[in-house]
Amino acid sequence: MTDNRTFWLGEEETLTARQQEAIWPGGQKAIDRLAKRNKRPVRDLITDLIDPGTPFFELSLLAGFGMGYPGVEDVPCAGIVTGIGKIHGNWTMIMANDSRVKAGTYFPITLKKHMRAQAIAERCRLNCVYIADSGGVFLPMQADVFPDDQHFGSIFYNMARMSAKGQRQVTLSTGGNTAGGAYIVFMACESIMIDRQSFSFLGGPPLVKMATGEEISAEDLGGAKVHTGVSGGADHICQDQTEAIGRVRELLSLTAPQKVHLHRYQEQEPVTPLDSLYDVLAASPHQGIDGYAVLSAIADGSYFIEAKKNFAMGRGSNILTGKIRIKGLPVGVICSNGPGIIFHEAAKKVTEWVVRCSYEKIPLLFIQSAPGYMVGSESEHAGIGKYGADMVRAVSCAQVPRIQLVLGPDNGAANYGMCGRAYRPHFLFSTMRARTSVMSGKSAGGVLLSIEQAKRKKAGTPMTEEEIQEFQQKMIDKYDGEAHPFFCGARLLNDRVLRFSEIRDWLSVAFEVSLLNPIGEPTFGNFRF
Ligand code: COA
Repeated sequence: MTDNRTFWLGEEETLTARQQEAIWPGGQKAIDRLAKRNKRPVRDLITDLIDPGTPFFELSLLAGFGMGYPGVEDVPCAGIVTGIGKIHGNWTMIMANDSRVKAGTYFPITLKKHMRAQAIAERCRLNCVYIADSGGVFLPMQADVFPDDQHFGSIFYNMARMSAKGQRQVTLSTGGNTAGGAYIVFMACESIMIDRQSFSFLGGPPLVKMATGEEISAEDLGGAKVHTGVSGGADHICQDQTEAIGRVRELLSLTAPQKVHLHRYQEQEPVTPLDSLYDVLAASPHQGIDGYAVLSAIADGSYFIEAKKNFAMGRGSNILTGKIRIKGLPVGVICSNGPGIIFHEAAKKVTEWVVRCSYEKIPLLFIQSAPGYMVGSESEHAGIGKYGADMVRAVSCAQVPRIQLVLGPDNGAANYGMCGRAYRPHFLFSTMRARTSVMSGKSAGGVLLSIEQAKRKKAGTPMTEEEIQEFQQKMIDKYDGEAHPFFCGARLLNDRVLRFSEIRDWLSVAFEVSLLNPIGEPTFGNFRF
């Protein structure tokens, strides 16, 4: 076994451990508590909801760890399970509150995760299923989750707009849904409640008593019988979770079959096994990648048709451009190579390639391992700012589906040009090798050190050698921590941290889902050229 393989398998073990922590909040005790109420953990419900034997592609598993909210350090899985699965053959977005995490209430990260799932659904025209079991706003943080755009109200705004576009919004209520939680039931196109298990009300019994003096049970205030028989706020009543899941499937059974808007070739396994990534990717994330080896491991038949191979050799070739197929789907790639630093020639090459693929209506895959654009007078005078901006412009305006996969450093403006989060890639996947930050800890340490040294010199207390070392190390530790995929995953800066062995499966599903919406016509702003 190579040293690299041993290292990456070890790293992926830590990923597995973190994922397990996310999946089982509260351990067996929490499951027993659910069982006493005739309830099962949400992932069990999802397994029954999707087509038998098919996988559930769960998103943002690491969201919510180490957030340091008032009195709550971790919010496992952000308190909500989101992901894509097939229901009657159609890809569907599923969003399910996990009542084991603070009664499924919404922290800022819960909102971010819920709305990221809705954004994917809206863009890819997916029907949505909500499994609602939420106490609504996490009350100690109301100012951070209630009133603003992208706060609680935006969930319902999104539901309304998607339903207006013909995307079915189906809610199954499996527990107490109070205030905002209740709107997830009432805003749905169709909603299902479970007798004596689901409740929906704008204010629960304690609030009602305070506000009006009325004393009433949860069942009589907003139980399943009330909403299906009296208020009309819900449509179907079921006796238990199993019947209710069957009803959701039934409601989505006569939905038109989806169509992938791209020609598809016969799927082929890579000749170079995907597994070879464990050997060829260096253990240090700051070391460059061999773009050819990476493409060979992920492309059908290891087949890569390179574009502009000889252009500005050595400088243009820090990024490879060309086409591959992933499980039969043709994809334009922009892949870091070698040290990955982007020179102006590479920026020009990528711009041209992004525009060309947009006209051909071929989706794009950005494989990112770039520590930044080239700095210095030679580069500035040659127009790195201008050509880098053109690259960013092309990436921003391309109408084709775009997916980013981070395999190494992801720093500075290279994060922008290679379609980082701000450029709204349809999906953004990370790996244990990804490091996303404005610059490396070493560079940041150097910049801040020079500022600190100047300050201290002015004050007449120049830094000692020991203080310099300590200052630099502190910055390196801080940046390494914040660039790590766990830190980024916790804040939803990626949609999933993938094992190398999962890359092809996830890319294939992500492209397929992204192509359910027809590709728009190319429109680009003003290039400078
Ligand atoms: N804000 C903050 N914390 C909340 C909360 C809220 N809205 N709702 C519940 N919690 C917390 C509880 O304090 C408890 O914390 P703990 O585990 O540290 O003790 C945990 O979530 C579980 O709550 P619990 O009441 O034991 O769960 P349950 O399954 O018996 O009941 C609800 C769930 C949602 C019916 C019930 O908690 C409830 O009515 N909550 C208030 C809902 C509300 O009024 N929301 C208004 C939001 S706008």
